[in-house]
Amino acid sequence: MSIFICGTGSYLPQKVLTNDDLSRIVDTNDEWIRTRTGIQERHIASEEEATSDLCYHASLLAIKAAQLTPQDIDLILVATITPDTGFPATACYLQHRLNCRPIPAMDINAACSGFPYGLKLAQQSLKEDPYCHNVLLVCGDKMSSVTDWQDRSTCVLLGDGAGAIILHRQDVPEQPSAKLQLNIIDILLGSNGSGTNLIIMPAGGSRKPASSQTLTNREHFFRMNGKEVFKSAVNVMCECVEEILQRNHLTINDLDYLLPHQANIRIIQAVAERLRLPQDKVIISIHHYGNTSAASIPITLDQAIQEKTIHRGKTLLTVAFGAGLTWGATLLQWP
Ligand code: UT7
Repeated sequence: MSIFICGTGSYLPQKVLTNDDLSRIVDTNDEWIRTRTGIQERHIASEEEATSDLCYHASLLAIKAAQLTPQDIDLILVATITPDTGFPATACYLQHRLNCRPIPAMDINAACSGFPYGLKLAQQSLKEDPYCHNVLLVCGDKMSSVTDWQDRSTCVLLGDGAGAIILHRQDVPEQPSAKLQLNIIDILLGSNGSGTNLIIMPAGGSRKPASSQTLTNREHFFRMNGKEVFKSAVNVMCECVEEILQRNHLTINDLDYLLPHQANIRIIQAVAERLRLPQDKVIISIHHYGNTSAASIPITLDQAIQEKTIHRGKTLLTVAFGAGLTWGATLLQWP
């Protein structure tokens, strides 16, 4: 039995917001944003587009790339922190819009680590359920819906988008073909809840339900202690990479590519430097999309596959870090 990614797709909303556009909204400038974050522009969804709409477009492309139809999907997992509604799950909106069979559909809240967390659940379902052959994992976030456009320390970072993959179980070995076959070699996950206050949307949940007070205090927005998160992100992502390599008896030199969560170019560069990985082995998309939360890894993965950076014979490691704190790494190989 083998379990592999056989299709990817991504969707970015049409509207592009440049750094110069932002400098007309808050006290910032293109130079600061580029040098401190690496971001040049980001995509912003329209008022009519919810997270499930972003996920829908990415899903259609992934399903098509896998040469399947929505009817072939056996489980839908949506990784998001910006669901269409508090409940029901965004995955249920997606199930309906894709016109899938009455299959299970649920959301995962692991913030920017949504991809490795979702991949783990998808892999387990395929392993344990003989009736499950194709899982649709979509990571999508409309971060603009929780962005405080008066807070220059966060509004310049975030972008909207969705990335989808199809994870497939093959019971009988297949002849090698040109089709995408990214095998899951290993997945490492972790969390540390002592850092819940470092990246948070303070109100709107059961701890602090919405009230006129929470609205006045602007507590329904993304809040982050940037400096602390920066330090933790570099440390934890390095440790995560080292641990997954070690337990698979690999060294950094065995990797063709590292695909990190796209939060800040300086975090990515610091991680590569500390790991002694040449920068040309690091896949980057942050310049054009900003931090799209859970979507950042599958969007970048899809792009790298489209551009044929990732092809047969390549081994790559994705590594994520986000609110929770949560983190995760996935070791993938196209034999
Ligand atoms: O996806 C989840 C994971 N997220 C992350 O990993 C993000 C981690 N954190 C970061 O990427 C960085 O900490 C930020 C990009 C958020 C901030 O960069 P920084 O180098 O840590 O800047 P800072 O917060 O120390 O601010 C430096 C200066 C401050 O001014 P003073 O106090 O030195 O006068 C800020 O007020 O830059 C100022 N500043 C800005 N200036 C122009 C903060 N934001 C801006 C801005 N434009 N947008």
